[in-house]
Amino acid sequence: MLRHTLNPLFGCLLALGCGGPPQATAPPGAEPKLGDAWFDFRAETLGITPAEARARDAALPGADGPPPEDALDTHTAREAAVLWMTRCAACHGAKGEPPPEIEAQYEASEQNPPRSWGGAARMGFMMGGDKMRAGLFRKIEQGVAPNMPPWGAVLAREQIWALVRHLEGF
Ligand code: HEC
Repeated sequence: MLRHTLNPLFGCLLALGCGGPPQATAPPGAEPKLGDAWFDFRAETLGITPAEARARDAALPGADGPPPEDALDTHTAREAAVLWMTRCAACHGAKGEPPPEIEAQYEASEQNPPRSWGGAARMGFMMGGDKMRAGLFRKIEQGVAPNMPPWGAVLAREQIWALVRHLEGF
């Protein structure tokens, strides 16, 4: 598609969303849909069968990217927001800034804290583009020992790409 052939900033302006829907807000108390529940939900929202939803997900690009262009929609954006709040925010912070007490813990044990999103990281997306997105997919899928857990066995590819998009939205 056109935006891949242009420079990232111009591509962002053209696509009006830099590669996906804008970051969503998680409704209070919402729980993520995992495994079969996710594919049943996607089947419903896409008007296909659960088996087709699984096959569609398996056919999406994985850790080598690039991010799927048309697969993400408002449903995946909402799911990413819910996943973020329920599975990631304890370490990474609801707004993408690790809470001070978490940073202090990592500092005390001389280990890498979760990085802060938004601000300078936005420039990273601008410069790093799909290569950076693919790297983030890989880290979410495979984890970063010893403290960042792997999610590849828990989440669909589409859910991981939606999380990468969510990070970009901070
Ligand atoms: C138990 C705490 C913890 C949880 C839960 C957690 N993370 Fe992390 N995450 C970390 C830490 C610590 C790092 C930094 C690891 C390092 O660089 O050594 C990290 C790194 C990352 C990175 C790599 C950033 C980079 O630029 O290298 C991404 C992406 C990420 N986490 C996303 C997520 C997502 C998405 C979730 C939820 C599905 C999540 N994390 C859940 C602790 C956590």
